Amino acid sequence: MSGGHPHSHGNPMQPVRLEGVKNVIAVGAGKGGVGKSTLSVMLATGLVRRGLKVGLMDADVYGPSIPKMLGIEDAKPTMASENIIVPIIAHSLKVMSIGFLVEPDRPIIWRGPMIHGTVKQFLDQVDWAPLDYLIVDLPPGTGDVPLTLSQSIPMTGAVVVCTPQDVALLDAVRAARMYQQLNVPVLGIIENMSYFVAPDTGKEYDLFGKGGAAKAANTLKVPFLGSMPINIGIRLSGDQGTPSTLFDDGPQGVGDAIMKVVDELVRQVALRADKPAGPTLTIRS
Ligand SMILES: Nc1ncnc2c1ncn2[C@@H]1O[C@H](COP(=O)(O)OP(=O)(O)O)[C@@H](O)[C@H]1O
Ligand SMILES: [Mg+2]
Repeated sequence: MSGGHPHSHGNPMQPVRLEGVKNVIAVGAGKGGVGKSTLSVMLATGLVRRGLKVGLMDADVYGPSIPKMLGIEDAKPTMASENIIVPIIAHSLKVMSIGFLVEPDRPIIWRGPMIHGTVKQFLDQVDWAPLDYLIVDLPPGTGDVPLTLSQSIPMTGAVVVCTPQDVALLDAVRAARMYQQLNVPVLGIIENMSYFVAPDTGKEYDLFGKGGAAKAANTLKVPFLGSMPINIGIRLSGDQGTPSTLFDDGPQGVGDAIMKVVDELVRQVALRADKPAGPTLTIRS
């Protein structure tokens, strides 16, 4: 049993590392419907394909969609002891979601402290370790969940998902600025639904005007992690809970696009790991 209480000692105001979890990466966006959950699943399953140990925490308390996207809506986590929750294993991922604990069609009226408590519980009481990456799928916007996360654990960073329209980019910039304010490094921006490849001709169409996210990343001085096509296979795999269909013989170019973003994310994490965490003072003699 590898659970435990990483928070049971030390200064309660000081974020304590999640024991046995090397990297915690939040996937956020300024608004809903841009593909945060889809990208969270893609990143998590792509990291698994690189031989890494990965967890996926669904922190979208308002609209948890990870159970459906992984085809595990009926899963019920068990308790290993009074306060240790065993995550669901699916597609080689350790998974936890509020969706496992409530009826899917019953709304929850969340108060700030409840959100805080739930996120803390998912961090402290779920038996995540050992993991190379914990991917956290966030609710839309700049609210209580990213705030609690950033105050509770040292996060490796955040990934911002957006679509190429100008209005969506504005939201992405807002989200990126929020992370910067919370002192969470922005590991990069991903442009989702970036282009459409016609299955019959292979011709590429930029439905919403490709390239806006790369420009926004440039303005914000954060990395651009890559772009994801809009593809019916992506939508179907989300609805049917079959993420593995996107790889290998999956829809044209999708598996490659995912792995490119995954590898760029891993590279950005490695680049940051080489840097000192905080400000340092160099004393010359
Ligand atoms: N690249 C894409 N191509 C096709 N459909 C997509 C793509 N990205 C997301 N979708 C679909 O769009 C909808 C919203 O995506 P979702 O990941 O739930 O967004 P969010 O988590 O930001 O609210 C889902 O039905 C999903 O399958
Ligand atoms: Mg979502």
